[in-house]
Amino acid sequence: MFIGDFMRLRNLKNKEEIIEKSDYIVNDIYSNCGNWSSVFNNNNPICLEIGMGFGKFISSLAISNNNINYIGLEKLDNVMARAIKKIGDKKISNLKLIRDNALNIDKIFDGEIDVLYLNFSDPWPKKRQENRRLTSFDFLEKYDKIFYEDAKIIMKTDNYNLFVYSLKSLSKYGYYFEELSFDLHNDEDIDEVLKNPTTEYEDKFIEKNRQIYYVVAIKKKKIIQNQYNLL
Ligand SMILES: C[S@@+](CC[C@H](N)C(=O)[O-])C[C@H]1O[C@@H](n2cnc3c(N)ncnc32)[C@H](O)[C@@H]1O
Repeated sequence: MFIGDFMRLRNLKNKEEIIEKSDYIVNDIYSNCGNWSSVFNNNNPICLEIGMGFGKFISSLAISNNNINYIGLEKLDNVMARAIKKIGDKKISNLKLIRDNALNIDKIFDGEIDVLYLNFSDPWPKKRQENRRLTSFDFLEKYDKIFYEDAKIIMKTDNYNLFVYSLKSLSKYGYYFEELSFDLHNDEDIDEVLKNPTTEYEDKFIEKNRQIYYVVAIKKKKIIQNQYNLL
C-alpha cells in the first residue's frame, strides 16, 4: 500500500455506523479543547498522531504504555472505520480517536500535547500544495498552541524531498534536532527502542528495503514565548 492508496480503498458501506458505535471515537472534540485530561479521566501525558491511517502505531504505543494517553487523528471516514475494525474489541482505555482534518488542530487542543507524531504524511510535492504539508509554517504555527511545554515532533517518512523540506522548515521555525537518521532501521546509533512500533506504511517499506528517514525535533517553550513577544 502506497501514498494515495488510502484514497482508493474500497468504500466501507457501514463506515458511519462503525465510527458512531466505537467507544474510541470522541465526537464533541471542539468542546474538549483545553480539557482532554477529563476525557481520559487522569492527568497523564497526552501524545497525538496526525494521519494515523489504520492505527497500528498509535494503538501499539497505547497498549505498551498504559501511563500515557494517546490520540489518533484521521481525516478520512473510510480509513478511520478500518482502523476501528482492526483495533477490534481490545478495550484500550488510554486511546481515543478523532475524525477531523489537522487544519483544525488549534481548535481541538490548547496546551495539552506532549509529543506529536507525523508518520508517512502525504508529501504534497507541488510547490502550490506546500501549505498542505504537515511540516509547513502554516501547520507549525498551529502546533505552537497545542503543546503543553516544549514542542516535540517525531517524524518518519520514506520521502526524501518531504524530509529535506521538513528539516529546513522545522529548523527555520526554531526547532533543533535531538535525533536524526537517514536510514532508521539500519542505523546503529539510534536506540532500538525508538525504532518501534512501526506503522502500516513503514512495514511495507521495510519489506522493500527502502530507507526510512527519522527526526525528533524539539522547540523550547521559551522560544515560542519570545516569538510572541517580538510581535
Ligand atoms: C500515507 S498515510 C500514512 C498512514 C499511517 N501514518 C502509516 O504510516 O501507516 C497518511 C494518512 O494521513 C491522513 N491525513 C493526511 N492529511 C491529513 C490531515 N490534514 N488531517 C488528518 N489526516 C490526514 C490520510 O488520510 C492518511 O490516512
